[in-house]
Amino acid sequence: MQRNREAGLQGLAPKLLAWFDRNARALPWRAPIGVRRDPYRVWLAEIMLQQTTVPHAAPYFEAFTRRWPTVEALAAAKDEDVMQAWAGLGYYARARNLLKCAREAAALGAFPETEEGLRELSGIGPYTAGAIAAIAFGQRAAAVDGNVDRVFARLLALKGEWAQEKKRIAVEVAALVPEARPGDFAEALMDLGATVCTPKAPNCRTCPLTEECAARREGAPERYPLKPAKAVKPVRFGAAYVLRRGEAVWLVRRPPSGLLGGMLGLPGPEWREAKDEAPPPVEANWAHLGEVRHVFTHFTLRLDVYEARSGRVKLPEGYWAGTDDLAGLPTVFAKAAALAGLSARRKR
Ligand code: ADE
Repeated sequence: MQRNREAGLQGLAPKLLAWFDRNARALPWRAPIGVRRDPYRVWLAEIMLQQTTVPHAAPYFEAFTRRWPTVEALAAAKDEDVMQAWAGLGYYARARNLLKCAREAAALGAFPETEEGLRELSGIGPYTAGAIAAIAFGQRAAAVDGNVDRVFARLLALKGEWAQEKKRIAVEVAALVPEARPGDFAEALMDLGATVCTPKAPNCRTCPLTEECAARREGAPERYPLKPAKAVKPVRFGAAYVLRRGEAVWLVRRPPSGLLGGMLGLPGPEWREAKDEAPPPVEANWAHLGEVRHVFTHFTLRLDVYEARSGRVKLPEGYWAGTDDLAGLPTVFAKAAALAGLSARRKR
């Protein structure tokens, strides 16, 4: 493409692939270079890695593939078991779509091999479709995530409005994907962004693309990408009640849709924009243990945590859970349970 040639990027793919051959990260969802990859494992990893770091996702990937080694196995799993195994990874709509997608793929007999076919499945957007098509099926597809945006914002020293520049980056990257090894090209860019062209302190001395990098020539690559400042997140308030009886804790299953939908939780009122004094869900000798904070995509939650011991009271919904079930709590409730000295140790 004309712009790539002007920017001197035409030799980028071979350089990047040569760097990848020496520096690829050994990650649980990868296979040795040249070995065909299992589309199920590629798909599962890409879903887990949406909005989640590699070190955080890796143990979940290992646990899922041990327990559900094929897409058919996952498709046959109970919803509750999958939601429980996902606890702590966040963005729980991903887990609901994961299961839906597994069932769709199992019904089809296999994952579709093209970006268009993959896009038809639940939870697969343009980035994930490109990544799976390239990595699992060797299609000449691009996978542009935040890391890749940063690398190209620097390579081209992009100064325009960020939403527009992101569109340009998608076009640039698509034009650079090589016919051979498109999946390695995608993962090489991810690895470069994660290990060399890092957000705050890029390590330009080890970068295979320094000669091509306009931001490096300008002298301050870490200034890029030039994104608008993030809006301050609004705050919401809530309360969580830790009702205990011996070793057991009262847990509820949250409604199937909405935030943390289908996940286990501690009982408490709906979260609101102002702090109000909602009554506890049941009369008991509640002690205020403190507050936990948790950052969600669109707001920060401040949750007052209360504890009571009771052998008699029961709530209208929920059940007495053993300590094993605490591992199925999403992080915000695991933090609240921890205030009561209950550890939600994850089994993996
Ligand atoms: N982030 C998203 N997908 C990835 C992959 N396949 N390897 C490393 N990091 C990733």
